[in-house]
Amino acid sequence: EAELIHQFKGISFTTRSSPELLNSLDAFDAREDDVLLVSYPKSGTHWLAGVITKLYKTPVTLTNPIELGDMSKLEELNQLSSKRIIPTHLDYNMLPQNFKNKKCKMIYIIRNPKDIAVSMYHYYKENPNLPTVDTWTAFLDLFLEGDVVCGSWFDHFLSWEEHKNDKNILFLFYEDMKKNLPKTVKEISIFLGISISDEDIQDICKKSSFSEMKRDTEKENSDPSHTVCALTSNRKLIFRKGTVGDWKNHFTPKQNLRFDEVFNEKMKFSKMAKNLTYEF
Ligand code: A3P
Repeated sequence: EAELIHQFKGISFTTRSSPELLNSLDAFDAREDDVLLVSYPKSGTHWLAGVITKLYKTPVTLTNPIELGDMSKLEELNQLSSKRIIPTHLDYNMLPQNFKNKKCKMIYIIRNPKDIAVSMYHYYKENPNLPTVDTWTAFLDLFLEGDVVCGSWFDHFLSWEEHKNDKNILFLFYEDMKKNLPKTVKEISIFLGISISDEDIQDICKKSSFSEMKRDTEKENSDPSHTVCALTSNRKLIFRKGTVGDWKNHFTPKQNLRFDEVFNEKMKFSKMAKNLTYEF
């Protein structure tokens, strides 16, 4: 198992992200019109990617995650002539400097970390690129300690929250998308400067439902060997349940208390954390 994971700047990456690539990310050539799609794993990245790519009427390329692959990655992305939508699980500090200098638009999707922990537990179990986990209880310990791939959820979120007032970053919540997807789609279109009719919005929402996306993945409409998650290229591992509050089916009352304790401590200076707690 040791060979599945390596550490870079204190964060666990799979061997699908080479140390050479991670080391040279700052050499990456950002373009002013790049759009970054940023998330901690299991936050709804594929859902959001589905929505965003359907919004554009001009050609765009949804690329692989920036941290996936080896040195050839930088050249590969350089050669794309169309506008690039670039997914990443990197925390803010590791993001290539060039994206920050050029003030590229970035969309960060947030999800209740209790649901993320559950989703990630199942992902660990199904995904051969990740180490094996014994029990849910053992996994929750690792999650709370930040001893999981992509590092601590808390640190990831806090690194991005520091930039919540940056005009080029839009923060979205998975739970808001579940509640009112058309509203989020409208918000994204305004942020990206795309004009879109209410009819188009309805159509995008229909095509982006969990059941539609799952079916597309199982049938012919999407490439099952292409994901926007650096941890797998198997889309079939992504569409599991797609609900809010599945944590309630996994957490014992004691585990829930412990999670709340860690959450409250880590998030004590966080302004956005109070938005997250509404589903707790
Ligand atoms: P669950 O494991 O709770 O089902 P990511 O894309 O960042 O890897 O996140 C995957 C999670 O988003 C999974 O959560 C997946 O089911 C959920 N998801 C994917 N597509 C979705 C959709 N169209 N609507 C709601 N949830 C979706």
